Amino acid sequence: MSDLSIIAIDGPAASGKSTLGFRLAEFLGYLYFDTGLMYRAITWLALQRGIDMRDEAAVSRLAEDIPIEVAAPSFEDGRSCDIVVDGQDITWKIRQPEVDANVSIVAAYPGVREALTVQQRRIGLRGRVVMVGRDIGTVVLPEADVKIYLDASAGERARRRHEEILQRGETADFDDILSKVNKRDRIDSTRDVAPLKPADDAILIDSDKLDADQVFQKALSLCKR
Ligand code: DC
Repeated sequence: MSDLSIIAIDGPAASGKSTLGFRLAEFLGYLYFDTGLMYRAITWLALQRGIDMRDEAAVSRLAEDIPIEVAAPSFEDGRSCDIVVDGQDITWKIRQPEVDANVSIVAAYPGVREALTVQQRRIGLRGRVVMVGRDIGTVVLPEADVKIYLDASAGERARRRHEEILQRGETADFDDILSKVNKRDRIDSTRDVAPLKPADDAILIDSDKLDADQVFQKALSLCKR
């Protein structure tokens, strides 16, 4: 496994990419980089500044002008990294429902994707990285050594999200979560630029009937191969 350097994990929302990516990175001693956090950071910033999400030029300008710092976690509060923008730690703020509801719109803008892809590629090419997203194997790092496409049915993904929320002691409506999962899938996979799809040389893992440990073992065996 020693000369492996770039592992790309793509797949739809809530398919377990972050859990798998974080665990693989920890096991291999690699950097874990969840690229969705960058799209979330731009969405949060646009909301914060009162920018209309439909104003593609203004949102794209934010992505071009504002650097997003992705750093190793400085707190042990469940985060996988720190996201800092404008000197502010926004790691948890970018998980707000308002960001969830708007991030697919922002991620579909070509100007936003171009600006963030340049930053992601620069980090990825340093190697020893597990990079997670929707277009890592197809666009950001097509030269990745291992490409995994982690999938699960919309119903199973909504069930997991629902459970996560209940475990935090909050309430949520399953049907509402399922309709949001379906909506995000539709936007992510039908956009013109870098749509969500497996790379031709990606290995597909369907996690519908696998738990997190089984997914990890399967992915690890691909890395060893
Ligand atoms: O994985 P996530 O839910 O945090 O991703 C947030 C949004 O960003 C989601 O709508 C898909 C988009 N995204 C993307 O288009 N390309 C990536 N490489 C990562 C995320």
